[in-house]
Amino acid sequence: MISVPKQSEVHPSERRIILKNADNPDYDVSIDCYERHGGYEVMKQAFSSRKPEELCQEVLDSEVRGRGGAGFPAGMKWKFLDRKSGKPIYLICNADESEPGTFKDRQIMHKDPHQLIEGMMISAYAIQAAEAFIYIREEMPLGAQILEEAIAEARAKGYVGDNILGSDYSCDLIVHRGAAAYICGEETGLIESLEGKRAYPRIKPPYFPAALGLYMCPTIVNNVETLCNVKHIAEMGGKEYAKIGRPGNTGTRIWCLSGHVKNPGYYELENGKFTYGDLIYKIGGGLREGRTLQAVIPGGSSAKVWRAGERFSGKLRSGEAFDWAIDDVPLDFDGPMAAGSMSGSGAVIVVDDSVDIVEVLANINAFYAHESCGQCTPCREGSLWMKKITTRMVNGGAREEDADLLASIGDQIAGRTICAHGEACAWPTQSFVAKFRDKFTEKAKEDPEKASKRPFRLV
Ligand code: NAI
Ligand code: SF4
Repeated sequence: MISVPKQSEVHPSERRIILKNADNPDYDVSIDCYERHGGYEVMKQAFSSRKPEELCQEVLDSEVRGRGGAGFPAGMKWKFLDRKSGKPIYLICNADESEPGTFKDRQIMHKDPHQLIEGMMISAYAIQAAEAFIYIREEMPLGAQILEEAIAEARAKGYVGDNILGSDYSCDLIVHRGAAAYICGEETGLIESLEGKRAYPRIKPPYFPAALGLYMCPTIVNNVETLCNVKHIAEMGGKEYAKIGRPGNTGTRIWCLSGHVKNPGYYELENGKFTYGDLIYKIGGGLREGRTLQAVIPGGSSAKVWRAGERFSGKLRSGEAFDWAIDDVPLDFDGPMAAGSMSGSGAVIVVDDSVDIVEVLANINAFYAHESCGQCTPCREGSLWMKKITTRMVNGGAREEDADLLASIGDQIAGRTICAHGEACAWPTQSFVAKFRDKFTEKAKEDPEKASKRPFRLV
């Protein structure tokens, strides 16, 4: 049996539902351990006494929003399934977690794989899927191995496969390993890859997976954390689940805190009950000694950056006026949106004053240029130009016009591409240049000799 290191401490502010057992020292990934802790009881109850449509209604009532990044209501996505087509329905778990700064789904897969399997089999039954897949990224070989072993155990006990738990419902669960491309996390790229093709994302509409997904059949693609939530929704009932967190931001969320904080890590918190300030300072221990905050990227590198000291004001959807500093922004789906960015995959990246902000963007741009699938000209060429410009800037060749040039390239990409990778690569550049224009223009005054001696150089 495989074991992985545990996080030694759970912060007292956490409300662990998904990670309830994951870090207990005596908890392991075996099916016996899972069953000892009540595992598969919810599934047994669902299969013996709940109709599939009742379970779909519970998910709708729970108002649970997708934990992969977009925050789309999962119950509504399930409702969009084209059930009239007569084609088989597929369920796919998107375990291609690859947004920079995101490391939550792997905790679940590495430490509590049966919770994911139970959540998936309840979901598969609810949507009447013919087959289910876990698409896991190449860089998580341990996760794939753990899941394959766990599925074999579950199959042997009748939780997966033919006539599940003696019912007339059959569904197999298959682990599919990706091949180390970020774009395979985009749901239609993932589907192409699963079909054995190059992961070129499809245009939505018409190719929303709920209507035209795997093999052009109705398909639900949900994130690992979302599917685990289904187990708890089925257990407590959708309306009861919706009491956790806040209306429109129900349940808990696992936040990944990284960068220049004293206590980086993952923290499962009730939605909307905390702020970014709570996460960074109270839970994350604040910045390192003698350092000040320079920037926060609130939801993975694709999210727009915030500059320390900036304020956000406006009106919430409820009509309520707000005037926030970064510290006041609610830690949920809607707070960061109101503050001009997004919570994305829940990856909060903290940047202190020890680093060159142009270098931060140069790093991000190198990533997106490498990961563009190359299908659309604005993304393929634009991401490469932005990478080349920011690399030249950090290597001592910055020019005064670079800030304008970068902003104009970003503007030519966003909204002009097939998939959201266009926005993902444009938004960092657009927001970094807009928020830190002074730093970008100062760069042109930098002595090239000094830049050439910098220990870290991009190529
Ligand atoms: P999206 O907003 O286009 O779609 C969200 C979901 O709702 C999709 O499953 C889509 O099929 C469904 N949907 C939306 N409108 C629909 C309609 N009219 N009919 C049927 N289904 C509909 O966002 P997308 O592209 O799925 O995700 C983008 C987010 O992913 C970004 O915000 C980013 O934060 C995140 N992301 C996360 C990564 C990770 O590692 N977790 C990696 C890269 C990006
Ligand atoms: Fe590929 Fe970029 Fe176009 Fe997405 S936006 S399809 S990643 S080229």
